[in-house]
Amino acid sequence: MSNKVSRRTFLSYTLMGTGGFMASAMLMPMIRFAIDPVLASAGGSDMIPTPQKEADLSEVPVRVDYTIKDRQDGWYTSDESNTAWVYKEGDKVIALSPVCKHLGCTVNWEGDEHKNEFFCPCHAGRYKKNGANIPGSPPLGPLDEFEVEIIDGFVYLGGVIPNTLV
Ligand code: FES
Repeated sequence: MSNKVSRRTFLSYTLMGTGGFMASAMLMPMIRFAIDPVLASAGGSDMIPTPQKEADLSEVPVRVDYTIKDRQDGWYTSDESNTAWVYKEGDKVIALSPVCKHLGCTVNWEGDEHKNEFFCPCHAGRYKKNGANIPGSPPLGPLDEFEVEIIDGFVYLGGVIPNTLV
């Protein structure tokens, strides 16, 4: 029995092997790109450091700006700027979301006419210091809170949670 391989058969095996290798070299990065976000860990409840020292907080809310590094949105990764209103109530550090519960504008603390309240300039939304919406103004719910942790004297913020103070 002869094991001779014809020139034609050898050539077709060689071409199939080379073609297969080239196809897999092109397809593997595409497959990895397509499923990478699925394989990546969710990491949603990570605590993010802020530049705010706990020792500098008082009962008056201060605006704390911080950056969430490498935020993953599908296949797109970027740094995201975020803001919280942070203050102390006794020993407890409270961080409120600045996102108005009416249509999502950014609320500010106080102003000439709104002492001891958060105020939304878009449609004159008003909130008490604990985030409770003031009846008669457009927002229908309280401001959300952030999860808070103090690490090495600095305020770390986590995910947004429903207001626990109202
Ligand atoms: S968006 Fe804040 S009151 Fe309308």
